[in-house]
Amino acid sequence: MSDNTKNIEVAQEKFAELIKSEFERIERMKQDNEIKDFSKLEKIVIGVLPGDGIGPIIMAQALRVLKTLMKDELESGKVEIREIEGMTIEHRAETLQSLPDEVLAEVKKCDVILKGPMVTPRAGDPWPNLLSANSLLRRNLELFAAVRPIKIPDKNIDWTFFRENIEGEYIWGNKGIQVNDDLAVDFKVQTQQGTERIARAAFDFARKNGKKNVTIVTKANIVKLADGNFIKGVRKVGEEYPEIEIQERLVDAMCAKMLDPEFNKGIEVIVLPNLYGDIVTDVAAEHQGGLGTASSSNIGNKYAMFEAIHGTAPFLINHGRGQYADPCSLIRAVGMLVAHIGYGDRKQLLDRALDICTITERKLVVTTDKDGATAEEFTTYLVDTINGLK
Ligand code: IPM
Ligand code: MN
Repeated sequence: MSDNTKNIEVAQEKFAELIKSEFERIERMKQDNEIKDFSKLEKIVIGVLPGDGIGPIIMAQALRVLKTLMKDELESGKVEIREIEGMTIEHRAETLQSLPDEVLAEVKKCDVILKGPMVTPRAGDPWPNLLSANSLLRRNLELFAAVRPIKIPDKNIDWTFFRENIEGEYIWGNKGIQVNDDLAVDFKVQTQQGTERIARAAFDFARKNGKKNVTIVTKANIVKLADGNFIKGVRKVGEEYPEIEIQERLVDAMCAKMLDPEFNKGIEVIVLPNLYGDIVTDVAAEHQGGLGTASSSNIGNKYAMFEAIHGTAPFLINHGRGQYADPCSLIRAVGMLVAHIGYGDRKQLLDRALDICTITERKLVVTTDKDGATAEEFTTYLVDTINGLK
């Protein structure tokens, strides 16, 4: 048998395995339709994964804010904060498990998770080439919607992104096929079920919040099937929401022109496949004032996870500036978390305090440099402000 024939056979077998696992996942998605009702829970358990790099530093501060907001519920036992150990890059490298089994078991005993940034090793890093822990958490907890709000008031921008969080280029992680030295193939997957559930989340949000428009962002002129089907699926779900208008944008233009008032006309809620959502929300967060100002929630039917959208900031750590990291992104994630479990009033309180501390009063400013406030100093200011507003 020639080398090529053999390579094709091996690739076909691997591909068949992947398709098979996808059929199984589709069946699981069809079963996963019971939505957790937090108002019916006797106790809500918030699991905490501090992460790597600046993660533990900003998490310590985010927890001070969480404890301030939920003081009464923590005292009465209605809410519990549970720190989960073992989700560090050192332990993950040692066990060669990006999401160690015992960590996942603990995570699954919680209702919602507050998560700091975690290292995702890249080629050339000192760590083994582990899968992204983020992707694994999202997949294992079926957190199919990354909801990322962006506000730029002076440009009249108040957007909520609904990024599909499991499929697309992320789904098969490191299971691409290196056919031979010359040829590598990665995959992009879009299922009807995956598309419909993110679309429904976006339209439900639009309806509940009085939004009139859902914009679909893809590269469907080139990625005919995955993106083409994504558009069809979103439009199909949209038929159940006749009061909401649907428009389309291409992802490259969206990145280039999102601030152009002609281009962004009507945009309120944006729904997009995984990788485009990753990129576009970073661009939008930069326009909002930097990755440190944005936060993200990962929502599923049973679990939800709230996190900063930035990474572990090795640059700050290596320059001895870890304590000057901006905790606001993770603190905003705390706001999204408390709203998700039924305490929208506390999120409003936090938002008001953050406006005072970062826009109107700004007595202390975090610059991430030594001329600015430390994460701890800033958080003391924020906590005092919250208590003053209570
Ligand atoms: C994000 C991050 C993650 C992603 C990484 C850390 C895996 O960039 O949440 O946007 O690509 O989804
Ligand atoms: Mn990202």
